Amino acid sequence: MEVIIRSSREEAEKMTAAMLATAVETKPDCVLGLATGRTMEAVYAELARLHRDKGLDFSQVCTFNLDEYIGLAPDDPNSYRYYMQEKLFDHINIDPQRTYLPDGLSKDIKQEGPHYEAQIRYRGGIDLQLLGIGEDGHIGFNEPLSSFASRTRDVTLTPETIAQNSPMFQRPEDMPRRAFTMGVGTILEARRIVMLVTGAGKARVLAAAVEGPLAAIVPASALQFHQNAVVIVDAAAASEL
Ligand code: GLP
Repeated sequence: MEVIIRSSREEAEKMTAAMLATAVETKPDCVLGLATGRTMEAVYAELARLHRDKGLDFSQVCTFNLDEYIGLAPDDPNSYRYYMQEKLFDHINIDPQRTYLPDGLSKDIKQEGPHYEAQIRYRGGIDLQLLGIGEDGHIGFNEPLSSFASRTRDVTLTPETIAQNSPMFQRPEDMPRRAFTMGVGTILEARRIVMLVTGAGKARVLAAAVEGPLAAIVPASALQFHQNAVVIVDAAAASEL
């Protein structure tokens, strides 16, 4: 695992976007794994700018998001589908048939994970997976103590995650308590992983993930297993390394 420290948040975000852009330029039909959250907003804004100003071409790219809330419709402003449309997909020339997220309204909750994994396989597997990290060390919605071998499935969110994400809901009590997420094992199958971590609030958990023992209590520590993982951090997030 390689850790790259940039002095500012903006530089860390730009570098992450540049890595995604290079992946698209190098392999125009690449499969990207995408993440949501506040951390990624500037990355997607930069990719939209690269499309607008430099003609970065997404027409053959395929994307799989890490997770989605159970019970939220695609047009619900708090769904991750809505986030992706608003922050990225509506601003680039991606084929809507090539953008995948778990179906938050799936009628068969236990089948949604295996179905999603079949779609990932059908598209040839993930070339580059973008990741953020939760304050409790989660990746996707793999909460502490998720198995490193876990697959895409339905999970129950922890009180910490509910506290972290509910302020984004107009009525915080409306935040779903359950979600679909790719598993840690699914994530580790990506050929390349880029994790972006910014801000002092993530400094402790970043140190645990990068320098601590491999431990299911910190799901992001599983990245230490990966042969081709890079963690891009700003100085604030790096302050406890
Ligand atoms: C959310 C998402 C994660 C994301 C993380 C960090 O709950 N499920 O995929 O990486 O939490 O979010 P933020 O960037 O807003 O801190």
